[in-house]
Amino acid sequence: MLPITFRVNNKEHTLEIESNLRLIDLLRDKLKLTGTKEGCGEGECGACTVLMNGDIVNSCLVMAVQAHGTDIITIEGIGTENELHPVQQAFLEEGAVQCGYCTPGMVLAAVDLLNKKPSPTKNEIKRHLAGNLCRCTGYNKIIKAVQKASKGSE
Ligand code: FES
Ligand code: FES
Repeated sequence: MLPITFRVNNKEHTLEIESNLRLIDLLRDKLKLTGTKEGCGEGECGACTVLMNGDIVNSCLVMAVQAHGTDIITIEGIGTENELHPVQQAFLEEGAVQCGYCTPGMVLAAVDLLNKKPSPTKNEIKRHLAGNLCRCTGYNKIIKAVQKASKGSE
């Protein structure tokens, strides 16, 4: 067992973990942050996307020990109990959610883009979300939602 200390959604955690534990399992199983989803488990689908030190990572590919000393934001860490994050609100308004399995990762990838580039072009949105797969929506509504959120943040 290895000791790690890290911040998740602005709260510090210190715990002992198995050396072969993945970050996604630490978040879902030990911290009960089940908004982060596992799809492929191989870095291909983006369902497990979280922000680590302000950048998106696939939490299925990151070992939990690598999270030591970092700052993680999961889907539970954006917005508040009473108010959705503007990207979540735009997804809701544009009907960009169907089964919802891809949504946490997709939203965090969009948040990452808008943090870095508040007014992206449509192509920049497509490129930034290319690692996040959606089986349901055909992507158009997702892109429209990100455009809507980006207008809100201009
Ligand atoms: S579950 Fe991590 S990229 Fe698919
Ligand atoms: S809404 Fe079902 S996978 Fe995207």
